[in-house]
Amino acid sequence: MTPTENLSQARQAFHAHLAQTSDSPIGLEIHHAEGSWLYTCDNRPYLDLIAGIGVTALGHRHPAVVAAIKRQLERHLHVMVYGEYVLESQAALAAELARVLPRGLERIYFTNSGAEAIEGALKAARKYTGRNALVAFDGAYHGDTMGALALAGNVTFRAPFGNLPGPVFHLVYDDETALAALDERVAAVVIEPIQAEGGVRIPHAAFIQALRRRCTELGTLLIFDEVLTGLGRTGQLFALEHFNVTPDILVLAKALGGGLPLGAFCASDAVMSVLSRDPPLGHITTFGGHPLSCAAGRATLETIMEQRLWERARRAGNFMQQQLNRLFAHEGIHIRGAGLLIGIEFPEVRIVRQFVAQTLSRGVVVNWTLNADRVVRLAPPLTISEDEIDFAIGTMRDAWVATKKSA
Ligand SMILES: Cc1ncc(COP(=O)(O)O)c(C=O)c1O
Repeated sequence: MTPTENLSQARQAFHAHLAQTSDSPIGLEIHHAEGSWLYTCDNRPYLDLIAGIGVTALGHRHPAVVAAIKRQLERHLHVMVYGEYVLESQAALAAELARVLPRGLERIYFTNSGAEAIEGALKAARKYTGRNALVAFDGAYHGDTMGALALAGNVTFRAPFGNLPGPVFHLVYDDETALAALDERVAAVVIEPIQAEGGVRIPHAAFIQALRRRCTELGTLLIFDEVLTGLGRTGQLFALEHFNVTPDILVLAKALGGGLPLGAFCASDAVMSVLSRDPPLGHITTFGGHPLSCAAGRATLETIMEQRLWERARRAGNFMQQQLNRLFAHEGIHIRGAGLLIGIEFPEVRIVRQFVAQTLSRGVVVNWTLNADRVVRLAPPLTISEDEIDFAIGTMRDAWVATKKSA
């Protein structure tokens, strides 16, 4: 069967049998992916400025990741994954993570996804503090399971689903005065140190530091969601380094699995140990920390550390922001970002939709953010080259000219 025949069957089945998440899927039919590029079944290359939503930090199918997966494949797949057997793939990744994480976060629980890691962090915080209430922020996105959704900072996404776990209180992001509302009933405050889906919002260091102080005063656990910002994307290995603040629990996913599903929450022995007793097995998982994912994750983390990819992200991000500023400086469009997490804020949603479609039709994949639909968010592989950035900027220039013509 040729790829084209295969493709049309796939497209039919996509529409007939796959649950849809919107009425307007991007609809690219992917044949293969390599480096910063996706290739569709009709042989068109697309520069991937989303990287599977911030996942493929090393680009698609990085050789070190593929080799690690193959090696693991030869040894074993699922056996019994979490907490019972000693599996080298998991233990080695946990040890490597513990080595690079801030002190006090050396105990790691692996999950399948970001949302699942958030859920585990919430359970640990509730049990450790013996408190119920949770606090999150406007614009927040922590995933779509019930507990994570309850934290979402956009009522449009919460409201259709009835009563969610709580109580959850939402505060204004980056507003120090809002922190006065915290009190001793709060088990945990969950925050993205830099918001992605909220429209690439970078808070003031003073706010994050005041939040840390307030949580410490109240005995409330501070949970940093670094699902998207972790492992180099923002120009530091962890975004917490921009603020000089260590949370009580750090949540990771996306880049962690190098393209396979993997999340983690990381905490002290004292916090994490509440999950192992009273009752024992009170928080378990069949697949979390799968050997293949951990092998891919270890190769990813080692490559990020060896190549100091956070520094590359910082340099490439600065270059990209400069180019974007030059392109959009006089158009009422604002650019902001940290490393290779960049937001382009347009004046109107309608314009964003047109710009995204025009950019895509020219072979560059970009998208807007969930909780700030006037913002296009760029999160390319950390390995993106200068030539690829030039291509992206040239394409966006043409797309912007076309957008203005059709507006
Ligand atoms: C900051 C943040 N937290 C949590 C999640 C949820 O992760 P997952 O989709 O793996 O459940 C996401 C996903 O986009 C995210 O961006």
